[in-house]
Amino acid sequence: MSKVYENLEKSLASIRKVTDFVPEIAITLGSGLGGLAEKIDVECEIKYSDIEGFPVSTVAGHDGKFIFGTLSGKKVVVMSGRVHYYEGYTMAEVVTPVRIMGLLGAKKVLLTNAAGGVNTSFVPGDLMLITDHLSTFVPSPLIGANPEELGVRFPDMSNVYNDELCDVIREAAKKTNVDLKEGVYVQFTGPNYETPAEIKMARSFGADAVGMSTVVEAMAACHMGLKVCGISCITNMAAGILKQPLNHKEVQETADMVKSKFEALVMELVKNM
Ligand code: HPA
Repeated sequence: MSKVYENLEKSLASIRKVTDFVPEIAITLGSGLGGLAEKIDVECEIKYSDIEGFPVSTVAGHDGKFIFGTLSGKKVVVMSGRVHYYEGYTMAEVVTPVRIMGLLGAKKVLLTNAAGGVNTSFVPGDLMLITDHLSTFVPSPLIGANPEELGVRFPDMSNVYNDELCDVIREAAKKTNVDLKEGVYVQFTGPNYETPAEIKMARSFGADAVGMSTVVEAMAACHMGLKVCGISCITNMAAGILKQPLNHKEVQETADMVKSKFEALVMELVKNM
């Protein structure tokens, strides 16, 4: 058994001591978007710090727990607060939570994040369906001995964001009157925001939104055969677009402003996932 899988089994066992809940859908909530957790009919919560072999988040605004319960009639596990590469974890550690949610039984994953708008037609407060990603600027979470129990050594990444789930999100946006944007998300390591030159490069490479998460989680989920979809909340224009410095406060304030639109969209789409 691979070391990675051995560690996942330890984490899984410590969760199974607390709950036998089997989720259909896994949801990861981005910076400032944790309010959705209040809409869940909660069955059980487990703090990451109580799970053996689990990485623990240190960022303000990231809660750090799994919430198990029902949302829009579906059995969900919600990752309230994720772990980031910039906190000092390895990429294998960063993707541990999404892998665990898959091993708990979830077949579909909704990844959400706060992101900077690279596409100049976007405005802060927009929601963007992630149609593809650029992983070029972060190490692959699949580097190292391949955990064969999860997936193949050389996984296909030509359709990471599941077409049917993307359509479910588009439909839910229509129903909830959300003017949903679409585009490509690029992950950088952070924790610093990008320079204007880096954003120009990202745009010329085809990116529409930029952030410090999600791509590696999507890759790990895709590797293990889960159906993935994602939504970015554009919390600010990326560096160099507006002549003003970027800060985490703006990210949190915009996420807070978009909260009700975001929650309505997610509750509607989960119904049909
Ligand atoms: N860059 C990177 N990550 C982000 C941004 C950004 O502009 N906004 C929110 N997360």
